[in-house]
Amino acid sequence: MSRPYRFAVIGTGFFAQNHLHAWAQIPDVELVAVCDTDPERLAAAARDFSGRPYADAAELFANEELDFVDIATTPPTHPQMVFLAAEHGVPAICQKPLAWDLADARAMVEAMEAKGLPFMVHENFRFQYPMRRVKEVLDAGTIGRPFFGRFSFRSFHDCYTPQPWLLDSERMIIVDVVVHLFDLARFFIGEPESLYAEALKVNPRIIGEDVATVMMRMPGATAIADASYETFSNHSTYPQAFVTIEGTRGVITLGPDYHLQVVSHPVDVGDSAARMTGAVVFDEDLQIPEHAWASRPWHGIQDSVVALQRHWVECLRTGRTPETSGADTLRTMELTLGAYESLATGQPYRVGSSA
Ligand SMILES: NC(=O)c1ccc[n+]([C@@H]2O[C@H](COP(=O)([O-])OP(=O)(O)OC[C@H]3O[C@@H](n4cnc5c(N)ncnc54)[C@H](O)[C@@H]3O)[C@@H](O)[C@H]2O)c1
Repeated sequence: MSRPYRFAVIGTGFFAQNHLHAWAQIPDVELVAVCDTDPERLAAAARDFSGRPYADAAELFANEELDFVDIATTPPTHPQMVFLAAEHGVPAICQKPLAWDLADARAMVEAMEAKGLPFMVHENFRFQYPMRRVKEVLDAGTIGRPFFGRFSFRSFHDCYTPQPWLLDSERMIIVDVVVHLFDLARFFIGEPESLYAEALKVNPRIIGEDVATVMMRMPGATAIADASYETFSNHSTYPQAFVTIEGTRGVITLGPDYHLQVVSHPVDVGDSAARMTGAVVFDEDLQIPEHAWASRPWHGIQDSVVALQRHWVECLRTGRTPETSGADTLRTMELTLGAYESLATGQPYRVGSSA
């Protein structure tokens, strides 16, 4: 490559700080502009990361020659930003959730596809280092064929002070966190055919749901995604996601503090005597890669932002389709929005039933 990829970050709020710091350590990219409607946030980002400041995204696209944009605004603005990117022929990464409804999400993907533009959703949980280790163990066949998964995110962390928009969001923990757990379920086990959701509002200060449990059915497997922002603990594990995957030859558990345990049996289901005697147990305390700008407890998530951005640059360079492309993420979006449909109807949601 003769020159670095020139890009802009749109939305310079709470989570975008991770994007900006991570980009600063990625080779072959150059931040040329930042955009935010909030003057203080915009000025701070322009000062700290050296991009030209824009208060209006349309002006940014009109004035800058960009190789891509990184969209980290709040969810209701995602369609507007992606349509602008498509109109100006600019590849884009967009934060999750892609949109509030499937029609918008599909239109966004179609707009980018119509111009042949690379398009990725910032679905960073699968890029967390511990999740990549789980995937390695699974793909090596160590636990056989997976038939059950549990993907869990429960804490009593105050997410509302840094992200006050979550207080007023009619849709909350399912679009905020369970969306990531759906992506993990797909990444590790496969495509759900149906799901059934239950949710609660425990905290009276908020409008949407802050506790949710979803059961999924895949071909030959079931899985549970559960999340809560109201779960007390004397040892905060926020923002860690826990994973259990049971297979025909063993179990993988990613537990608190990034502890990975793999129990593997020498034979498949069926020969109980051999299974009782031959189990191999492997324990590992996973070490998250360190970054000078990262801070606990966010370091695992912050490292995943670096990994995701490296993946995007590698995809731009090679022409590969990103793992969590817009088209791929439509499946995650359908599960997310299907969960709300299941809540509304009290019935299971069948994947593919949305017009
Ligand atoms: N992947 C993750 O782990 C993770 C974690 C937290 C947040 N997020 C996502 O990041 C996104 C941002 O969330 P946040 O909590 O950082 O929100 P935030 O409110 O702190 O930041 C959003 C920023 O976008 C700006 N903005 C809004 N409308 C705009 C517009 N039209 N033009 C330009 N700027 C505009 C706001 O002024 C604000 O500074 C959301 O989609 C959220 O779901 C992802």
